Amino acid sequence: MNGTPGVRAVERLLPELREELRADFCVANGENAADGLGITPHLAERILASGVDVVTLGNHAWRRKEVIPYLAETDRVIRPANLSKPTPGRGLTFAEGSNGTNVAVINLLGQLFLAPPMGPWEVVDELVAEARRTTPVILVDIHGEATSEKVAMAAYLDGKVTAVLGTHTHVQTNDARVSPAGTAAITDAGMTGPHDSVIGVVTELAVEQMRTGVPVRFRTASGGVRLEGVLVECGEDGRATRCEPVRAELPT
Ligand SMILES: [Fe+2]
Repeated sequence: MNGTPGVRAVERLLPELREELRADFCVANGENAADGLGITPHLAERILASGVDVVTLGNHAWRRKEVIPYLAETDRVIRPANLSKPTPGRGLTFAEGSNGTNVAVINLLGQLFLAPPMGPWEVVDELVAEARRTTPVILVDIHGEATSEKVAMAAYLDGKVTAVLGTHTHVQTNDARVSPAGTAAITDAGMTGPHDSVIGVVTELAVEQMRTGVPVRFRTASGGVRLEGVLVECGEDGRATRCEPVRAELPT
């Protein structure tokens, strides 16, 4: 979710949406919650209190220093597994859904254009094996810039996990699918935040920087706020049976 408008949208829309969709578990990428860059413990707690079970992060995981000790303690907010090994936090966690199902959540950072310390391919096999020792219901957030990498990860994990959901690019893609092997996937789950913007940033500021090449201080936009995501259904065996985009408008 993006900035204060995104966090407020989650608070106002998610409780009802969870009931309406009868969702037993909810994961949100929260790495842009703090004015577009990073997350604070306070914002993370607000998001979790709104009905999110696990928050994932991404390339902006360390932007807010106060989150560093928080990540060392919590098992509800995770950061990409392929960051530097000595850094606090974890890239795999387990949490129980409202129906009692144990769900594994894995957070990976794409290596194309984002240059993480390790490629996600170096760590993913071990993480999936560790998750599978505990539960067959496994959700992977691949936080990546390139569609090719996210599609490739979904293909690589086909039949091994329940869902491979892309984040970071903020524009919901039209490729939600379930493979014959039972893995749900979408290249980008979309953005919860102000859509009258350039992926959350005030349009004029983003255009000015791109047009001139001169750095501009970005501000989070405010108009056209909506919640976006994806609904995945699966059986007790962890095989997905449904994957559909979700959109909910914030009343003005
Ligand atoms: Fe990101």
